[in-house]
Amino acid sequence: MRPVTVTEEDIDRAAAALKRGELVAFPTETVYGLGADATSDTAVAAIFAAKKRPRFNPLIVHVASLEAAMALGRFDADALALARAFWPGPLSLVVPRSAGCAASLLVSAGLDTIALRVPAHPVAQALIAASGLPIAAPSANVSGRISPTTAAHVRESLGDAVAVILDGGPTSVGLESTVVACLGGPARLLRPGGAERAHIEAVLDRQIESPGGDPERPASPGQMESHYAPAAGVRLEARTVAPGEALLAFGPKVPPHDGPMRNLSPSGDLNEAAANLFRFLHELDTERVGTIAVMPIPRDGLGEAINDRLRRAAAPRPE
Ligand code: TXA
Ligand code: MG
Repeated sequence: MRPVTVTEEDIDRAAAALKRGELVAFPTETVYGLGADATSDTAVAAIFAAKKRPRFNPLIVHVASLEAAMALGRFDADALALARAFWPGPLSLVVPRSAGCAASLLVSAGLDTIALRVPAHPVAQALIAASGLPIAAPSANVSGRISPTTAAHVRESLGDAVAVILDGGPTSVGLESTVVACLGGPARLLRPGGAERAHIEAVLDRQIESPGGDPERPASPGQMESHYAPAAGVRLEARTVAPGEALLAFGPKVPPHDGPMRNLSPSGDLNEAAANLFRFLHELDTERVGTIAVMPIPRDGLGEAINDRLRRAAAPRPE
């Protein structure tokens, strides 16, 4: 399976595959998604199988507009305000499933809620329009591993499972969407991501509750501690580098090192760092080093999501 440059014809071919119940990988502004017809139980089941994803971990459904989203979920005042402020864009809203919700129950993994997002990427928009379907799509990586920000990443890990890979080049945000639950009570942040907390709090005009608390009961079922894991180990808050380690640097002041190295942003720009994070982890991983040493990264702006991903990349791994 080779990635393709995206023409109208490719979109039609991918839309036809979705309608046949097959899987299609497509770019969004955050990361590449592994898409399936969200209304089909068998198509959605194929996503879980391809990703080896635990069945209790629900999927985000991608739609063209707020109007389309409102056919699948019930929006309270917070959800409406956030959708109007951020869509299309890197925010997913978890809301109660609507009465006549057309999406497969499998996307909700047994919950009575559904995660919805209107992506901004023109290829994602074109695919939704051409298929006329809501598209269920997790990140297009094997469960627990680094998320894909290029078509090549998808081809390496899931190339055999997909009918079509739409190659839209490297994604611009580089981190998954922020996931916010709007379930009647105060809105809760389930996963930090491409939409910044400060911007969300400005729209709602108050602070939002954070994820975490009890790591045994993740607020979002997908937020297991070990995730985004490269094959190499990951060591955080590194101020020096040991021989044999690779260095993932940030900012202008880099410790001396003559092994494999990438700098997330030499100028210290967190948006640039987010866009580079997963690609650089993929690249350093191909150097087959034992450990990737990661310099400290500020926690403001997209730094919250970057530090969340790095903490999970460094977490003890199952087995
Ligand atoms: O940027 C993104 O969000 C990408 C692109 C492809 O849209 N998608 C993505 O999907 O990151 P995934 O499956 O890797 O992450 C979805 C997250 C998981 O943490 C999952 O547990 C959570 O959203 N989620 C989905 N539905 C939910 C629900 N009903 N309740 C709580 N959390 C939910
Ligand atoms: Mg994922």
